[in-house]
Amino acid sequence: MTELTPQAAANRAVWDEQHSSWYGGRAERLWTGDPCWGLWERPETELRVFPSLDGRDLVELGCGTGYVSAWAARRGARPVGVDNSSVQLATARALQEAHGPSFPLVHASAEQVPLPDACCDVVISEHGAIGWCDPELWIPEAARLLRPGGQLIFLRNSTLLTLCDHGDEPVGTTLVRGLAELPRLAQDDGSVNYQLPTGAMIGLLRRCGFVVDELTEIVVPADSPSEFDYVTADWASRWPSEELWKATLTG
Ligand SMILES: C[S@@+](CC[C@H](N)C(=O)[O-])C[C@H]1O[C@@H](n2cnc3c(N)ncnc32)[C@H](O)[C@@H]1O
Repeated sequence: MTELTPQAAANRAVWDEQHSSWYGGRAERLWTGDPCWGLWERPETELRVFPSLDGRDLVELGCGTGYVSAWAARRGARPVGVDNSSVQLATARALQEAHGPSFPLVHASAEQVPLPDACCDVVISEHGAIGWCDPELWIPEAARLLRPGGQLIFLRNSTLLTLCDHGDEPVGTTLVRGLAELPRLAQDDGSVNYQLPTGAMIGLLRRCGFVVDELTEIVVPADSPSEFDYVTADWASRWPSEELWKATLTG
């Protein structure tokens, strides 16, 4: 078995122990509902995250409770969900058994994925690998997994939000950290988050053979509800709290 990186080991411990109990209800609601994305659950009809999926192989890196892969399967894709937490995957498995569809779930870090080269057409991460894995490790892994012409899609917190995040909730309107303090963000609970700034992300994607197709900065109506309280809807109506990226593997 491949040894986990220190950050993957730390994040596994945190997700296995702390983040599972409250997640089940939300996951079931999302699993059984129509696709909607991120903190604000913006509908697929608005964000258009998914490409055409019928007959495509898709790998979700940091799939958590697996609802994104379930949506993809219902659209004709053959998904494989990869996650570092056995507890998260147990929830995904329970949702498969309760509601279908079923698809393979792999317990592994997205920094070292035990799947073959060129095995898929789409790699996707919704606040999964993108927020919790070293980008210098998981973005090359995404490139390795994709067939030429395949698409990498991820949704993450915005860099502006991260720069304004002072630790207490909700995020404020003052810059509290410099760009040089990114991408690695050690958290008080022992976990490690990552936020690669925009220019560095474009450079890394290009070095890995991608061209960037789209970067959507997500701004929402000021009365948008959310189950999360680390950023207010007022903030997110003035500045982008999340970003949607799409990139295509060339060659
Ligand atoms: C915020 S959740 C997002 C996943 C999914 N969208 C959901 O809400 O269930 C973050 C997920 O990333 C996973 N994760 C953390 N570190 C990881 C790693 N190194 N490799 C793969 N997954 C990881 C966690 O276990 C967790 O399930």
